[in-house]
Amino acid sequence: METVQSAGVVVTGAGGGIGAALARRFAAEGARVVVNDLDAASATAVAEEIGAVAVPGDASTVVEQAREALGGTVDIYCANAGVGSEGTEAAPESLWAAAWDVNVMAHVRAAHVLLPQWLERGEGRFVSTVSAAGLLSMIGAAPYSVTKHGAYAFAEWLSLTYRHRGLKVHAICPQGVRTNMLDVAGSAGELVLAPTAIEPSEVADALFAGMAEDRFLILPHPGTDQLYRARAAAPEQWLDGMNHLQQKWEATR
Ligand SMILES: NC(=O)c1ccc[n+]([C@@H]2O[C@H](COP(=O)([O-])OP(=O)(O)OC[C@H]3O[C@@H](n4cnc5c(N)ncnc54)[C@H](O)[C@@H]3O)[C@@H](O)[C@H]2O)c1
Repeated sequence: METVQSAGVVVTGAGGGIGAALARRFAAEGARVVVNDLDAASATAVAEEIGAVAVPGDASTVVEQAREALGGTVDIYCANAGVGSEGTEAAPESLWAAAWDVNVMAHVRAAHVLLPQWLERGEGRFVSTVSAAGLLSMIGAAPYSVTKHGAYAFAEWLSLTYRHRGLKVHAICPQGVRTNMLDVAGSAGELVLAPTAIEPSEVADALFAGMAEDRFLILPHPGTDQLYRARAAAPEQWLDGMNHLQQKWEATR
């Protein structure tokens, strides 16, 4: 891997949680970091703490501004901003639309802006904070599960399309992480995610270990790979297992 020292790095949704941990880690490794968040106050606070530049706003619309803040070149782009989006098929259309917009389309729009320069240079790194819900599923959260599958599919597509042209892509797929998102995830999050939740800094550790190997799939929790394999190898049994979890959750409500 090329060095992170003095690389230009953008992290979206970095006002807290996993994004802030990624921004802190990149800054600690000597990168020049842009901290984006919809919440301007939290973006500014994190940027001041780590000596970075804050570019607040919607992750979908700040890519060019963030690139300008880095002097015209982004080396590593972390599409991390995301929304939790619980609900069933009956969730309001507006919630589905917001989940698509932030969890998937923000990644597509960023890649659209960044790819021409990356392909010209023959290098670039796109980091997608997906979720284990993008490989598996999450009970009680249809918009989240569906859009995280979309985020994973897009990261995978980017990687298979441009890897021979120098693009490196990483899909981070954690289970529970102790952030605001987990705090507000409700009883399903408490049942499924909280017991094995890890710290945001551990997600950053996993990303750095994966970047050192140029590895696409970043699984910060042990066991996610077995679950992913089980889903592919025996879909009926996997669905039975997930449905048992659903019934267990229903019994607690
Ligand atoms: N916490 C978990 O258990 C967990 C597990 C797997 C994946 N993830 C994913 O990690 C990512 C970060 O989540 P987190 O857990 O740190 O949650 P978080 O709520 O602490 O942080 C998300 C940040 O994104 C910001 N944000 C939301 N929409 C935005 C937008 N349109 N533009 C810019 N910023 C925006 C929020 O203001 C917030 O600061 C998300 O993509 C999430 O889906 C989280």
